[in-house]
Amino acid sequence: MKLWGGRFETGPSEIFERFSESLSFDKRLADCDCRGSQAFARALMRVGILTDTECAQLVEAFETIRYQAQHPDFYLNATDEDIHTLIIRKLKDHVGPLADKIHTGRSRNEQVSLDIRLWLREEIDQVHAHLKALLDALLTIAKAYPHAIIPGYTHTRRAQAVLWPHYILAYFEMFSRDAERLSDARRRTDVMPLGSGALAGSGFPFDRDAIAADLGFAAITRNSMDVSGDRDFALDFLYAASMIMLHLSRFCEDWILYASEEFGWIELGDEVTSGSSLMPQKKNPDSLELIRGKCGRVYGAMNALFLTMKGLPMTYNRDMQEDKEPLFDAARQVGLSLQMAEALIRSAKLNEAKPEAAAEESWVIATDLAEELARSGTPFHQGHQIVGRLMLESVRLGKKPSDWTSETLQAFAPEFKPEAARLLHPREGMKSREIPGGTGPQAVAKALDEAQTRLAALRP
Ligand code: ARG
Repeated sequence: MKLWGGRFETGPSEIFERFSESLSFDKRLADCDCRGSQAFARALMRVGILTDTECAQLVEAFETIRYQAQHPDFYLNATDEDIHTLIIRKLKDHVGPLADKIHTGRSRNEQVSLDIRLWLREEIDQVHAHLKALLDALLTIAKAYPHAIIPGYTHTRRAQAVLWPHYILAYFEMFSRDAERLSDARRRTDVMPLGSGALAGSGFPFDRDAIAADLGFAAITRNSMDVSGDRDFALDFLYAASMIMLHLSRFCEDWILYASEEFGWIELGDEVTSGSSLMPQKKNPDSLELIRGKCGRVYGAMNALFLTMKGLPMTYNRDMQEDKEPLFDAARQVGLSLQMAEALIRSAKLNEAKPEAAAEESWVIATDLAEELARSGTPFHQGHQIVGRLMLESVRLGKKPSDWTSETLQAFAPEFKPEAARLLHPREGMKSREIPGGTGPQAVAKALDEAQTRLAALRP
C-alpha cells in the first residue's frame, strides 16, 4: 500500500522499493507510532473531523495493533514503504474506510519526528538509569578501599600518589557530566511536533498543547519548517552517547592495564572474562576490550548522522530516513556497554598491596619534597633543582625513597629540614593536598559523601 498513489500512473520499480523502504528498521517505532496516532485521533475529534465514536473506534484499533506489532507475524510478507504506511494498512483491516480519516492534516514528516522523539525519550531514560547504576558501582568500589593508594600517572609514567577513591571519583565526575548531557538531550527531545504539517503548519486548528499534554511532552515546537528538517535532538543524544563511550573506553583502557600481570592491581571476576582456545592459562579482559571497541561504532553513528544532515536544504529531505539505523544502533550499544561496565566493576577486586608498593618504590613523592622545601623557605625552582639532583643521585645509587633518612637527606642538601623525611612515604604527602578537589584524605572523604548525595538526587 502507498499513502500517495493518486498522482502516479505506474508504481515504483522493484529496485526503488527495495532501495527506499525503511520498514525493515523503522518497525522499531511501531509502538510509538500507534500511541502518537491515538493522541492524534483525539486531536481530530476535538476539531470535529472525527465523532466521539469514530475516535473511540480508532483508538481501540490502534491499541490492538500495538499489541499485534510486538509479534513478528505482524510484519510477515509486508512490503510497505515504512512503519507508518504499514500501520495505516492494518488500521484499514480493523476499521475499514474510517482509517482514511486518520491522516487528516498530518504529514509523515511530523509523524516521524514525533515517533523518534517518543522512542528516544524512553531510550534516554533507560540509558540514564544504566548510567546511574554505573555511578553507583563506582562509588561502591571507591568506598570498598577507602585508604588504598595508587600512583597516579601522566604520560603513563608514575607521577604523584593518589587515593584509590580519588582516582575512581575522577570517573564519577566524567559520568556525572554525561548524565547532565543526557538530560539536556532529553529536554530537547521532549518537545511535541504534531500540528506542523508537512512544513507549513497544519490546516486544522489543533490544540497543540493538548496533544503535548496527552503524550506527556513538556512543550510544543515553535516552527513548522524547523520540525520537518530537524534532527538536532538525535544528534544531541548521539553526542551524549559518544561522550559516554569515550569515558568508558578510557576507563576500560586503564583497567585492561591494571588487571594485567604487569600491574596486578585488579582482579576481574571470572564471569566477565574469557579464556583462550589455545593457551590454557589465559584470563582475558574481553568485556573491557569490547566496550573500548564499541566506542568506535558509536562515534561512527554520530558521524553518520552529522554527515547525513550536513548541507540539507530546508526542510524535509528523504536523506533524513538515514537517521534511524545509526541512532538505534548507538542507543543499543551504549546501553549494553554501560550495563557491561557496571557488571565488571562490581566483579572486581583491588589487590591493595600492589599499587601501594608501586607508589612506595617509585619517586612519586618528589613533588611533595620540592613543595616542602618551598614551604620552609627555599624558592620553588631551587627546591625543584635540589630534588632533581636527589633523583639523579638515587638513580645512580639504585636508591628508593625509603633508603633515605632525615640525616642523609640533610647531608645531601642542608635545605631539607628534619621533618621533610616524613614525606619519603607517599601517604604523608597526600595530607598536604586537602585542597577542595585534591587527594587529601579528608577532601576525598568529603567528596565521597557529596558524590553519594548527588547520586541520590540524580534524575533524567
Ligand atoms: N520513512 C520516512 C523517514 O523515515 C518517513 C517520512 C517520509 N516522508 C516523506 N516525505 N517521504 O524519513
